[in-house]
Amino acid sequence: MASAALHTITMRERLDALGPWFQNMCLDGEWTAPGHFLGDYPAVKFAGFAHALPDVTGLSVLDIGCNAGFYSFEMKRRGAAHVVGFDSEPLYTAQARFAADVLGLEVDIRDMGVFDVARLGERFDLVIFMGVLYHLRHPLLALDLIHEHVAKDMLLFQSLTRGVDRADPVDPDYDFFAPSPFDREDWPKLSFVEHRYAGDDSNWWIPNRAGVEAMLRSSGFRIAARPEAEVYLARREAKRPWGADPVYPARGDTR
Ligand SMILES: C[S@@+](CC[C@H](N)C(=O)[O-])C[C@H]1O[C@@H](n2cnc3c(N)ncnc32)[C@H](O)[C@@H]1O
Repeated sequence: MASAALHTITMRERLDALGPWFQNMCLDGEWTAPGHFLGDYPAVKFAGFAHALPDVTGLSVLDIGCNAGFYSFEMKRRGAAHVVGFDSEPLYTAQARFAADVLGLEVDIRDMGVFDVARLGERFDLVIFMGVLYHLRHPLLALDLIHEHVAKDMLLFQSLTRGVDRADPVDPDYDFFAPSPFDREDWPKLSFVEHRYAGDDSNWWIPNRAGVEAMLRSSGFRIAARPEAEVYLARREAKRPWGADPVYPARGDTR
């Protein structure tokens, strides 16, 4: 009698079943996204600014748009006491839960979107908001809500940017009849993407450097460091500029 060969599911098969992966991590000897177009991502990115991070020992951390959990895991490994990560894409939260389990790291992974941060009912010493801003149709509202509801002190922020790598100061006001200041190449800008950017239809607004910095300030975050291009460590200021309050659109009963 022929015996049925028992097949043990390999880690490779489990990773493939949970894919496609955006973040590359090594789980039990297998890489999740070895073919990432940016290389060993986000490890290569993290290597460029990890030196600028504060000591997170004993701190609470919120990782917004956590994807498969790379930054949440790094914070936990560095001694953070309480790490919550969330993402609006269930494929990624499933990956994050699986990875946390394999790595033996206690991270609270939630399924939710950034516009619902008020639901967390908690402020965090460090909020990580990496690589999400340009995926949002309402980026400034997201920053306003983060300031209002979850940021306690530090914000680790990154956005894809395009345009000149300069952000000279802007004047507090401009005369109505003066030639347009908005044509300056480092005027704070967001470029609207109606269709797709880099083959991705979830890219909505691509800021330039000045645009990112102005938006952070305008939402009540003081830029403390820019350890590398596109990456900022900011501090939450108690006072926001006038008019920078979040809005909460009412949901009508006509849909
Ligand atoms: C480019 S990835 C960045 C992932 C990770 N933060 C990093 O830096 O490697 C963008 C992530 O943001 C998530 N995302 C997009 N819109 C979101 C939203 N409204 N709320 C929460 N997460 C969102 C995506 O699902 C994706 O995981």
